[in-house]
Amino acid sequence: MKVIHSVSDTQTYVRELQMSGNKTIGFVPTMGALHKGHMSLVEQSVKNNEITVASIFINPRQFNDKSDFDNYPVNHENDLELLDKAGCDIVFLPSIDDIYKNFVGFNMDFNGLDKIYEGEFRPGHFQGVVDIVYRLFEIVQPNKAYFGLKDFQQLAIIKLMTKLANFNIEIVSCPIVREKSGLAMSSRNLRLSKEQFKNAANIYRLLIVISNKLKVGEDTDKYCQFFIDEIEKIPDMKAEYCVFCNPESLDLVKKINKNSQIIMCVAVWCGKIRLIDNIILVF
Ligand code: PAF
Repeated sequence: MKVIHSVSDTQTYVRELQMSGNKTIGFVPTMGALHKGHMSLVEQSVKNNEITVASIFINPRQFNDKSDFDNYPVNHENDLELLDKAGCDIVFLPSIDDIYKNFVGFNMDFNGLDKIYEGEFRPGHFQGVVDIVYRLFEIVQPNKAYFGLKDFQQLAIIKLMTKLANFNIEIVSCPIVREKSGLAMSSRNLRLSKEQFKNAANIYRLLIVISNKLKVGEDTDKYCQFFIDEIEKIPDMKAEYCVFCNPESLDLVKKINKNSQIIMCVAVWCGKIRLIDNIILVF
């Protein structure tokens, strides 16, 4: 496995690979502190492409909360070991200055997608995500890029950006990987205390409870309220939002229609750690 720090070395190396034959490049962008969720993306890329590139870059532009950025877990040694074992070919580990040097940005009309749900509580977050993913796509020029379904809204925005920027890249969405308790894997879980880690499993437990209760014809509002009330009974936990929406348009869904697919998305504070999760419901 090759570890490259410089943008220009990565571009040169990728170009050489592209010219050396008909090789497809799979790309897994990450912010490091890798867990089984990231590794499932890497494994899928390794299975489906001749070359897999992963990036590790904690992107300051997407953190609306400075303390979240300052405390974001870093573990490069472990990350590189995991990537090597999984068969990753290239790891791109750029510096902030190098990656954003001469970058004019990609200004896009998000169609309001950046203002709702996550966007309402994390102003500027999605522009930061678009900046880095656009820049990484320019450098790596992959055939396919892999993203987890946990960041559902991010995935929708990246798909839109890929289309608007005319990148010829297939965006592959991969299922959420969960702890035994059901808690969605996240690098931020490393910052939870033992007690918080145990309590946080209630997020997925409640998503399942609600998915079993909700029936065609019912209003979703009372289930959002149920989720918020149940979370708030747990010490040190507070729900930030709970929404049911259309998985394509992300429009809010207030009433459940027959033959529909809906995604229930939630954000919950566990002490000072903010966690998100979702579940797709089919009626
Ligand atoms: O999902 C993430 O880890 C990040 O938002 C991403 C896509 C690597 C961009 O920094």
